[in-house]
This record gives sequence, structure tokens and C-alpha cells, in this order.
Amino acid sequence: MRSAKIWIPAAALVAILVVVIGVVGFGQETSATVSFSNDIMPMFLASCAECHNSEDPSAGLNLETNVWENIVGVESTRVEPPMAFVKPGDPQNSYLIHKLAGTHEEVGGRGQRMPRGRDPWTEEQMELIIRWVSEGALNN
Ligand code: HEC
Repeated sequence: MRSAKIWIPAAALVAILVVVIGVVGFGQETSATVSFSNDIMPMFLASCAECHNSEDPSAGLNLETNVWENIVGVESTRVEPPMAFVKPGDPQNSYLIHKLAGTHEEVGGRGQRMPRGRDPWTEEQMELIIRWVSEGALNN
């Protein structure tokens, strides 16, 4: 009898802790702000900078150096009506997102889906860059 009185509350406490830690942990994972330098730049350097380099950038778009300045609020000259590569808070009106998703022709753009001639970005990569734009395309 004595051990049951101790063990039932102890088991209940453990169960509550598991739920609380789970909820807090999950919340942290989904609410963490995407970092431009830690999350986005490595993806550009790995799959875009080979062509969009600083020396002789394809389409004049440098995704290797000063990248935030090159894309945020900067309009492409290859889409009609004009659209910024990245419009803070608005992934639907960010041409770079359309080029990655392959929906660039639907918004009046041209050329191929990016990265050109390579596998498209994974769902996780797309989710990350869309979240970064949605969160205000911070230079963080
Ligand atoms: C193999 C070379 C190559 C790679 C790799 C590549 N691009 Fe491109 N990119 C080009 C070329 C060439 C163009 C111009 C023709 C076109 O739009 O298809 C271009 C055009 C673009 C444009 C449109 C530019 C404008 O002024 O409208 C964007 C945006 C873009 N690329 C983003 C990316 C991103 C983001 C990546 C990496 C995920 C990437 N590219 C990878 C070669 C490349």
C-alpha cells in the first residue's frame, strides 16, 4: 500500500514533465527565427554561388558577397510586371522564391527553375527560405 501511494504520484509527475518538456521543446523549434547568416547563406553558397559568384555573376546576380543588399528590395529586370527578388514579409511577391519553386513564368518571369540544371531545393530548404522572407527577411 505504502509503495503504491508513492509510485502513482511519481508516475503522474513524470508524465506531466514529459508533456511539458515536449511542448516547450516543440515550441522552441518552430518559433526560432531563421538566421540569414547561419541558415540562408550556407544554402546560397552551396548551390548558387558557383554561377552567381562575385566575379562574373550569372544574370548579374551575385549570391556570394553582399547578398542581403543584392536581393532584399532589389527588383529583377527579367520579370514583367517588375518584382523584387525578396520582398520582406511577402514570399508570394518575391521573385527569387518563384525561381526556386519553378513558378516564375506564372508571375511574368522567364528562364529556368533554379538552381539551374540541378535538383530543386528540398521541401525543408524551401520552407526555411519562405520562413525567412515571411519573418521580414532580416539581415540577422
Ligand atoms: C549552373 C549555373 C546556375 C546555378 C547553379 C544557379 N543559377 Fe540562377 N541563374 C543562372 C542563369 C544562367 C540565369 C539567367 C537565365 C535564367 O533565368 O534561367 C539565372 C537566373 C537566376 C535568377 C533570375 C535573375 C533575374 O535577374 O531575374 C534568380 C533569382 C536566380 N538565378 C537564383 C538562383 C538561386 C537562388 C540559385 C541557387 C539555389 C541559383 N540561381 C543557381 C545560372 C545559375
